[in-house]
Amino acid sequence: MSVLSGKKILLGVTGGIAAYKTANLVRLLIKLGCHVKVVMTPSAKDFVTPLTLSTLSKNPVLSTFTTDEDDEMWNNHVELGLWADLFIICPATANTLSKMSSGNCDNLLIATYLSAKCKVYFAPAMDLDMYKHESTKLSIEKLISFGNMLIPPESGELASGLVGKGRMAEPENIVTFIEKDLSSNLPLSGKTFLITAGPTFESIDPVRFIGNHSSGKMGFELAETASNLGANVILISGPTNEKLKSKSIQLKLITSSDQMFEEVVNKYRSADVVIMSAAVADFKPKSISNKKLKKSNQNLSIEVEKTKDILSHLGKTKTNQLLIGFALETDNEIENAKSKLINKNLDLIILNSLNDKGAGFGFDTNKVSIISKENKIINFPLKHKKDVSLDIINNIIELINE
Ligand code: CTP
Repeated sequence: MSVLSGKKILLGVTGGIAAYKTANLVRLLIKLGCHVKVVMTPSAKDFVTPLTLSTLSKNPVLSTFTTDEDDEMWNNHVELGLWADLFIICPATANTLSKMSSGNCDNLLIATYLSAKCKVYFAPAMDLDMYKHESTKLSIEKLISFGNMLIPPESGELASGLVGKGRMAEPENIVTFIEKDLSSNLPLSGKTFLITAGPTFESIDPVRFIGNHSSGKMGFELAETASNLGANVILISGPTNEKLKSKSIQLKLITSSDQMFEEVVNKYRSADVVIMSAAVADFKPKSISNKKLKKSNQNLSIEVEKTKDILSHLGKTKTNQLLIGFALETDNEIENAKSKLINKNLDLIILNSLNDKGAGFGFDTNKVSIISKENKIINFPLKHKKDVSLDIINNIIELINE
């Protein structure tokens, strides 16, 4: 999922030829799940019609201080400015940059800009000599000093026929620029999370296996939450029906505990945080029959052996990673979880009890307690696994910031 998803975006369009490209920008933002409203300067309407932008944004386009011929209805620029999470001014002409920097408030767009409390991005578009002019440079420097973000123009052929720097950044590049900028300010930006999810299946023969009821829901929610907060996420999952929403999560599907061990150990060095939420099988058949076992025998005994304890291995080989484990218990919960935390050299352990209604395997909800190395225990009520994942990740952020 894009960091822009669900954001309220105000798009300010000014009178330059590149205004026609804003139709595409609105489409891209809507596709990412943004809510878009457009404010235009009067001269912008010469380059792209309000009807085009209102149709694409699904909202009326405003360009004047009043709405009707009798000038009785006021377009509330203050409300508009406060509504927005982000204000993108594009194309930003030399004239608009100058007005923004000096506060020359002679149109609705500038009035809205002066009222907005949100982050402002501006994408200049003009001829190369206009862009190089000292007065344009001064306007841009001033806007940057106000905390506004410059989306640099690109080089190429300009409307004048000249070739150089001054073309408005392409809509796709504007979106990528803003996504990168927003991600770099997120609390987990620059951190790599290695998360495991789901069950493991240990083959008995070509058709049968030893497995468990884990659905993978908890691990997938953790991966989505960490990714939404800016982390680079590697998710290693056993067989599951879960689907990822975020395209930026690296998903590796495995089947057995040995495969999970190999993948996790492979990625361990690059991880800052590891969350083992997978329900790894504790036993596997000592040997796998390469033919389907027949039921001709009255009784069948399968000799099993212990699987490798992945988390214990990570605890023993830990360098600077934060290690988070899960404990699924049916009795003596807190004590058992605490001894897993110590024995496996963890930083946090998430306890979920099979005794709690609506918690554990297969449910959309979970009820957890988070136990730290320092013996701090936080008990949470039954919640949707999405909210549980946020509680867990928030605790990890606290540890990172310690
Ligand atoms: N775990 C692991 N490798 C295993 C078994 C478990 O990495 N072979 C991890 C799980 O992902 C979980 C934690 O260890 O984060 C605790 O798992 P749990 O099944 O509750 O405990 P076990 O250590 O397997 O002990 P027991 O089953 O005896 O309670």
